Amino acid sequence: MPFALSTERERETADIFSRYPNKLAACIPLLHLCQEQNGWISDEVIQFVAERCEVSTAHVQGVVTFYTLFNQKPVGKHQIWVCRTLSCALRGSDQIARHLQKKLGVHIGETTKDGLFTLREAECLAACGQGPMMLIDKTYHENLTPEKVDKILDELTGEAK
Ligand code: FES
Repeated sequence: MPFALSTERERETADIFSRYPNKLAACIPLLHLCQEQNGWISDEVIQFVAERCEVSTAHVQGVVTFYTLFNQKPVGKHQIWVCRTLSCALRGSDQIARHLQKKLGVHIGETTKDGLFTLREAECLAACGQGPMMLIDKTYHENLTPEKVDKILDELTGEAK
């Protein structure tokens, strides 16, 4: 079934196209908008974006595979990006990543069985002075310890007491 945006997002699309000098330049913001609705970039989404931006599906596929923020398969309700770059690594991101994997019962790149969390690694997320850190959806969590991670996850799963 072909992909279609909601009426509200169609209005946003018109706004996006009005801000760029040509349709090709709107490819990335349009992909973000589609992902916001669909959760990931399916073949149908690639077809949709290619048609709207008047480019080939190969071009859109190239964009999607280049940027890690585009999901190439279905993901959990919340996406956890744990930074593994140098500043965070020196401040214990390995321990945080191990803790997250143990607590969630998944490896990096996997989604929990309940579909709540997808755990991923990120390159520097520009919060180097507050490492170790992770990004959950659009929220930064900094100066992490295993205890802080537990509290954050418990709040997200509604288990906080
Ligand atoms: S190294 Fe982790 S945010 Fe920059």
